[in-house]
Parts: sequence; C-alpha cells; structure tokens
Amino acid sequence: MPLPLPDFCSQCESTWACRLKIHQNVSLADKNTLRLEARAEWYCEVSSLDELLEAAAFALAHKLNVISLGEGSNIVLADNLPGLVIKNRIQGVTYNAEVVHTAGGENWHQLVRSTVSSGLFGLENLALIPGTVGAAPVQNIGAYGVEICDRFLSLRALHLPTLEHRSFGKKECDFAYRDSLFKRSDEWMITEVSLALSKTSEYVTTYPGIVSYIEEHGLGTTGESIFEAVSHIRAQKLPNPLVIPNVGSFFKNPVVNADQAESIATEFPDVVQYDVIAGKKLSAAWLIDQLGLKDYGVGQFAVSDKHALVIINKGNGKQQELFELVDVINRKVKDTFGIELEIEPRLYPKGFVMSC
Ligand code: EPU
Repeated sequence: MPLPLPDFCSQCESTWACRLKIHQNVSLADKNTLRLEARAEWYCEVSSLDELLEAAAFALAHKLNVISLGEGSNIVLADNLPGLVIKNRIQGVTYNAEVVHTAGGENWHQLVRSTVSSGLFGLENLALIPGTVGAAPVQNIGAYGVEICDRFLSLRALHLPTLEHRSFGKKECDFAYRDSLFKRSDEWMITEVSLALSKTSEYVTTYPGIVSYIEEHGLGTTGESIFEAVSHIRAQKLPNPLVIPNVGSFFKNPVVNADQAESIATEFPDVVQYDVIAGKKLSAAWLIDQLGLKDYGVGQFAVSDKHALVIINKGNGKQQELFELVDVINRKVKDTFGIELEIEPRLYPKGFVMSC
C-alpha cells in the first residue's frame, strides 16, 4: 500500500508545495509542443540533482509513477498522466578539451550553437532540433547524416525505482534509429550527457541540400557553414514548434526487406528509399505525400503543407481529432503500400493505445 500523501515534509516540516513545489492537477498544455491539453496528477520542476533526488524519493515513498519531461517536443499526451511529472531544468555546461559535459535540462540547440562558436565541431548537423539535452539520447536524435550516438561518450541517469545514479557507456545505451534503452524504459531520467567533439571535425555533407547551400552562398565547408545551412534547411522545411505546434516527424521512416522494397519500387518507380543493413529505409514523408495528404486535416489537426511527415495543431486540437488523423494516414499507407507506419514521438500515458 502506498503511503498516504502527506501535507508536510517529514524532514523539514514545510509543506511539499513550498519545499519542492510539487503541485497537484497541473495542466501540461503549455509544456508539450503539440499543445495537447492533459493534466499531471502531480508536477514539479527540478534545477539540481539534489532536487531531482528529493522529488524521485517523494514519488517512491508514495508509489507514484514518474514521467520525465524535458521541453515536451517529442511526446504525445494522449490523456491525463497519473503520477508525478518531473520537468528537468538542471543546467550546466563544462568543457574538457574536446569533450563537452552538459546537464540534461540544457536546451539542445543552444548547446549546438555554443559548441560551434567555441570552435568545437561534430554537432552542427543537429542544429535547430527542439528539446533538451537529456531528451536527445532517448530517441537518438538525428538529422542530415548525423545521430547523437555518433558523438556520444557517456551519460549519467537516475534510476527512479531505486534512486541509483549511474553512468552508461555507448554500448549500454543500445542506440538504434530514433531509439535507445531509455525510449523503451521509463525507469531512467538522464541528468548529464558527455559528447566527444573535435576542433578538426570530418564534416558530414552527404545531405545534398547542405552542399548546395554552401556553394550558393560562396561559403567554405566549415562547422559554421554547415550549422548555417542546416538551420536554413530546417527553417524552410519544418514548421517551428514555437509558432505552429508540432513534434517534428510524427512517424519513423519504415524499414522493409529487399523483396518488399523491390515490389513497391516496381509499382512506384519514384519511391524514395535508402540502403540500410536490414533492407531499405523508405521515406514516410514521400509515402504520405503520394497519397495527397499534405494539408489534409481532421478538426484542428492537419498534415503540414510544408512537410508530409509533420502533423500540426492549428488551434485548440483535441486528442480524438489527432487519433482520427493518424488513423486515416495509417490506413491509407497500409492499403496503398502495405506498410505499417510507426509513430516516432513517445506516447503517454504508458501503454495507451490510440483508437478512434
Ligand atoms: N518528401 C516528400 N514530401 C515531403 C517531404 C519530404 O516527398 O513533404 C520526400 C523527399 O523526397 C525527401 C524525402 O522525403 O527527399 C526525405 O525528406 P527529408 O529530407 O525532410 O527527411 P525525412 O526522412 O522526412 C528525416 C528525419 C528528420 C530529419 C531529416 C533530415 C525521421 C523520422 N525524420 O526526415 O528528423 O530532420 O531526416 O535528416 O527520421 C525528427 O525526427 O523530428 C526530424 C525532423
């Protein structure tokens, strides 16, 4: 049986609300970039490891499930969240030669900007990705030929069920395409990430738009010019979540085996596909675009007219409208191409199944 929730902290005899500022029944509408209305049963923000430990201990003592929150730029809040939502606001960046150690609550893009302006390269292709540093390894963020796992050294994370704070090396994180151990388990909250950068990086310019931007603007290939090119490409292609609510790519690019890829290519010769170890990765944006679904909407939710992989909230969109839109996209893609799309952001509450 969980302990009854106390009005006062037994250690300092102040109220929980004044000590840790743990609030009850808090709206998360302004804390997720899809702007979905959902309420946290309990909510607090932590600015230090000590505060995080205290909040996690509170949850443990009262058998509350913990949900870690960064800037809410890669989550879908399907319903109200039982338990304690802890927003990570732990700040701090330190450099040790070519290694950067960053607290989980730092903003990712600001970190990328500051590494590039410090003359340390390796993150420039990951410019303008919304969210926090602590959330970045969870889904192994990636863009324009680079994933965070390519620059990853280690991270520290708190095990919420036991309060053990420990380090993880790259192998232990089990990184994959938009996936890691931390996306599959809700038991860890990432507090610090260490990345290996370089003063003389081997720049990644495989994405055609980067080279053409650099050439058109008469720039050399440098970390700064790639940062500028990527920022420009993203701003052109993807709606800014601060202006138009969205969570970036809503679906993963599906991977199919060679036979399935060939049969799709026979029927649809223009299909966009890339070689991967397991077969071919297809462009989900291309599949959705082919179906004429750009700008298609249900209620306040719609497929962006800028990029077919992005779903936007045009106003006060409700969960049911989003689920119906996702259902239409899924069904049409399945009927036409025989492919089941997988959603890319994390869906909360855990175990929730979207249904219309
Ligand atoms: N395309 C269309 N219609 C569109 C948009 C794109 O047909 O409306 C086709 C184009 O042929 C284009 C291809 O899809 O060449 C790929 O598009 P894009 O280069 O934008 O990349 P993506 O595969 O759609 C992935 C990531 C993005 C990342 C870009 C660039 C996933 C799920 N998404 O998108 O990441 O920025 O590559 O590297 O892997 C995110 O994860 O939120 C995200 C935005």
